[in-house]
Amino acid sequence: MRILSGIQPSGTLHLGNYFGMMKPAIELQTQGEAFYFIADYHSMTSLFDAAQRRRHSIEVALDFLACGLDPKQAVFFRQSDVPEVTELTWILSTVTPMGLLERCHSYKDKLAKGIAPSHGLFSYPVLMAADILAYDSNVVPVGRDQKQHVEVTRDIAVKFNLLYGDTFVVPEPRIQDAVAVVPGTDGQKMSKSYGNTIELFGEEKAARKRIMSIVMDSRTPAEPKPDADQNSALQLLKLVAPPEIGRDYEERLRAGGLGYGDLKKALFQLYWDYLAPARARRAELESNRDYVDQVLADGARRARATATVVLQRARRASGID
Ligand code: ADP
Ligand code: TRP
Repeated sequence: MRILSGIQPSGTLHLGNYFGMMKPAIELQTQGEAFYFIADYHSMTSLFDAAQRRRHSIEVALDFLACGLDPKQAVFFRQSDVPEVTELTWILSTVTPMGLLERCHSYKDKLAKGIAPSHGLFSYPVLMAADILAYDSNVVPVGRDQKQHVEVTRDIAVKFNLLYGDTFVVPEPRIQDAVAVVPGTDGQKMSKSYGNTIELFGEEKAARKRIMSIVMDSRTPAEPKPDADQNSALQLLKLVAPPEIGRDYEERLRAGGLGYGDLKKALFQLYWDYLAPARARRAELESNRDYVDQVLADGARRARATATVVLQRARRASGID
């Protein structure tokens, strides 16, 4: 089984990215042949600062390796190190119906957030389809917001196969239902673009401040509190705490007598401790950048070896050979 996923270097990674995408992807690396990449071409549709893209690309690499991505198990690379993908994007775009792209929610959502409409932003799902199809991927672990893009990929693959003969593997999305949506400090979906994130490797003082600023209702400490589905601080706590501690907090909140201030203090400590081993590994990696560069170069070489074969198949099928 070939597993593939990518993440954009468009900002600093947060707990939503971690529980929604990174953690499940890292857990899957032992279940098959995993291909994970830094989607720097995709980030060009919404981030227009070269220095920031460079910095975030390195940060994403450090974050993934620190969190347990094992470059011996998984092929870990930068999207732009595999130019075959951009050629495949063109080939796929010629069989992609406009209506398919016009129906994509993420394009409309991004315009609503104020991102300038561009051809790249509109055709973003075709680049994503090329990412997925270039490696004969079977399974694509992503958050719920990306499911439609994997469905678009399936439609494109089926259409190409019908027109030109069996060429691409048709992939399946793998959505993490256990962690549907990680809430941000304002109770909405945690997202870089809402300014409501808790960073994965934030600085201690800033992270404490963010957590203490989580918006709660006005119940007094003595009053009984809602369960996790209506209590973002508790929801976050249950993600970072051992299960029995999570249950204990939920019961104490339900009974009344535990205030939100104390809940958030506990959340901060559990969050800080949960990430302590990864934080230490990250610090080590930061002082060993040559190793990180070497991992990405090796990943690019392995990824290209696969993409070249698939691209050749697509060229031959469509008469470009
Ligand atoms: P952001 O919304 O911060 O820009 P991205 O859209 O770059 O995040 O998402 C990268 C990956 O992380 C995707 O697979 C997405 O589904 C997942 N993800 C992002 N935010 C959350 C969240 N709050 N809860 C669960 N998964 C998330
Ligand atoms: N579009 C994805 C996101 O914003 C990132 C991505 C690019 C991706 N190519 C991919 C995810 C291929 C899975 C498979 O999160």
